Amino acid sequence: MKISYEQQVQSRKTFAIISHPDAGKTTLTEKLLYFGGAIREAGTVKGRKNSKHAMSDWMEIEKQRGISVTSSVLEFQYNDYHVNILDTPGHEDFSEDTYRTLTAADSATMLIDVAKGVEAQTIKLFKVCRMRRIPIFTFINKLDRQGKEPFELMEELEDVLGIRSYPMNWPIGMGQDFKAVYDRHNKRLELYNHENPSKIDIISISGPLDPKIDEIINDEGLVNQFREEMELLDVAGDQYEKEQIDNGKLTPIFFGSAISNFGVQTFLEHFLEMAPAPTPRKSNEGVVEPLDQKFSGFVFKIQANMNPAHRDRIAFLRITSGVFKKGMNVNHVRLGKTMRLAQPTQFLAQSRSAVEEAYAGDIIGLFDPGTFRIGDTLVENGSFEFDEMPHFSPEHFCAISVKDALKHKSYEKGIRQLTEEGAIQLFQTYQKAVEQQIVGVVGVLQFEVLEHRLKSEYKVDIRLERLPFSYARWIAGETKDIEAFARTQRNLVKDRDDRLVALFENDFQMRTAQGKYPNIKFYENSFIKA
Ligand code: G4P
Repeated sequence: MKISYEQQVQSRKTFAIISHPDAGKTTLTEKLLYFGGAIREAGTVKGRKNSKHAMSDWMEIEKQRGISVTSSVLEFQYNDYHVNILDTPGHEDFSEDTYRTLTAADSATMLIDVAKGVEAQTIKLFKVCRMRRIPIFTFINKLDRQGKEPFELMEELEDVLGIRSYPMNWPIGMGQDFKAVYDRHNKRLELYNHENPSKIDIISISGPLDPKIDEIINDEGLVNQFREEMELLDVAGDQYEKEQIDNGKLTPIFFGSAISNFGVQTFLEHFLEMAPAPTPRKSNEGVVEPLDQKFSGFVFKIQANMNPAHRDRIAFLRITSGVFKKGMNVNHVRLGKTMRLAQPTQFLAQSRSAVEEAYAGDIIGLFDPGTFRIGDTLVENGSFEFDEMPHFSPEHFCAISVKDALKHKSYEKGIRQLTEEGAIQLFQTYQKAVEQQIVGVVGVLQFEVLEHRLKSEYKVDIRLERLPFSYARWIAGETKDIEAFARTQRNLVKDRDDRLVALFENDFQMRTAQGKYPNIKFYENSFIKA
């Protein structure tokens, strides 16, 4: 049976999983791949703890694998859906492209450890999803352990993240007393079997008052608590409103245990039904619809091959409309050049494979001999460009200089290329008297990557000197206000597009400046229209 173009696009679900390290992202991803048949046995995704390794190990791992496939994109088929999971690395390798990856997703799954609640890295990633107003689905993990009460977690989501929630299911008990989850939509109990958690018995009931529950759960205290909580949810909880979910104001919550494979399949099935198919994107010539059959896409991530013998890089392109066909000619809009897309790759669980055809929503990897920059647009017969890719506030800063002044040219080239890849952000001091280049990164590991790559790929030694800043804010306002601000601020820099950025050591310093200059706007990312 021939599948129409529209069906192909509508079957695509491209999303990212956001979480704090150790919440169980690797575990959940493995289970999802397992259901999709992309891996034979859950527990085989490589590189599970690679980011906990020392820098040298990490390099070694990258070398062996050529490219870190697991930290990029994974795709699989589930029923009639074509699923693309964008990975957002955690731990020390957390970098700006973790944020940028979210710009290629149509929705996000937020994974939360039931005992820890909303954690620091989740907050950061959530903010980027919020900025894009994409739907967010929440999976509360590790119910096989004792954790916070469900209502407490819902309150935390609202207080810390400002998002309301709608529980799709509700746990009965937790930890040693974990008995079941109640699926509110399908009115059924999914029973947790402590001996064999992946063996899930499903029992249809008429609702929370069904006497069958007393019989099955056989714990009066837990059943009473469950009924009270359900009543409270029905009376005081948020209604299920699709529109609110679609614009990211309401998050459907699922409770489960990834490691026990409990609740994962139910989550996946609900998620695939509720999550959006590829969404339209803004360009300088208007909105580009995914069903528009003319091929277009944008580069959201560039990954260097760590093997110095192969200087190639992979540019990850999110297809925004149309069909990609191997060997097709496209316009590289920034360069105004036609190029042939000869050997793109797509990413299965553990391998790269050549791709013949791909659709809006898919991610393809393009061999990049240095022709791409983050944010570049490729179009078939056209010349529009997608909205600029934002820069996000770095959190660690160093003054950077080249050790041997004779190597200045190689240094400039290396720094330029690494900036294009988005591995670092480069700033220049605003005051002429103290000319200094400053690099900013989101994760400290990037400094090591920078040092290592400049040395191995460009034969340049650098000096890095840590600076005490933690925040960068892009500033905008009327010239007179900006000038007044600039006169009093020593820590003013320019980004590579000459936009003014103020650096602050701490929150207090930043708030003081904001209070003193109410006419100036301070933005957390360079996307200052957002
Ligand atoms: P991450 O990618 O988000 O960093 O988390 P990862 O999946 O590596 O999981 C972090 C730890 O949490 C792992 O334990 C993992 O086994 C455990 N975990 C994941 N899901 C669940 C769950 O549903 N219940 C419980 N109880 N634990 C869960 P670890 O001891 O750090 O590693 P390992 O020895 O299991 O590899």
